[in-house]
Amino acid sequence: MTERTRTRKRAWAIMSVLIRAPRAEDMEAIIALDARVTGEAKSDFWRHKFVLGSALPEGDRPLVRIAEVNGRIVGVLVGEIRSWEFHLPPTGWITVLMVDPDHRRRGIGRRLLAEALEYFRERGVRSVRTMVGWADGDVLSFFTAMGFDRGPFIELEKSL
Ligand SMILES: CC(C)(COP(=O)(O)OP(=O)(O)OC[C@H]1O[C@@H](n2cnc3c(N)ncnc32)[C@H](O)[C@@H]1OP(=O)(O)O)[C@@H](O)C(=O)NCCC(=O)NCCS
Repeated sequence: MTERTRTRKRAWAIMSVLIRAPRAEDMEAIIALDARVTGEAKSDFWRHKFVLGSALPEGDRPLVRIAEVNGRIVGVLVGEIRSWEFHLPPTGWITVLMVDPDHRRRGIGRRLLAEALEYFRERGVRSVRTMVGWADGDVLSFFTAMGFDRGPFIELEKSL
């Protein structure tokens, strides 16, 4: 991709994409986007996020941001601040990030992430983490391009 094409795409994204907090009526569209991206409709997961989120005091709610283009939800990010887990001081975590396959490489993931980083910075958080599957090359490329690097932990797992 040439630099000119990239610049044009970014300009398109900046003009046409609205990044905002979700409303209750967005839930079904988010569930549908998730099903399209991951192949799995996780209604309970999203219902839990929405219901639990709205019941919690403002400061304890999970961070959820959506990207909207022409009234359609094309991206979603979920994050949260976790304190003292794994002996870590308050740390920002990105737990879900997905963009509709038809709207990728237009800067939408970058804008969703920028919102999350701003949210964490405003709350005094000094570092942000996420987990990416080794086989998930696209997502790894995205986070690497956004300045993320391999962290000091290893994940341990055991089959049950
Ligand atoms: C990762 C993801 C969110 C990126 O969203 P996006 O809107 O396409 O990303 P952006 O356009 O903002 O990309 C920013 C930069 O990241 C890098 N990047 C993004 N996708 C990339 C890819 N597939 N390959 C290489 N680099 C990539 C590029 O440097 C890009 O800048 P450029 O387009 O100017 O070259 C998107 O690919 C996605 O949703 N993947 C599936 C994620 C998923 O399965 N989530 C479910 C579990 S949480």
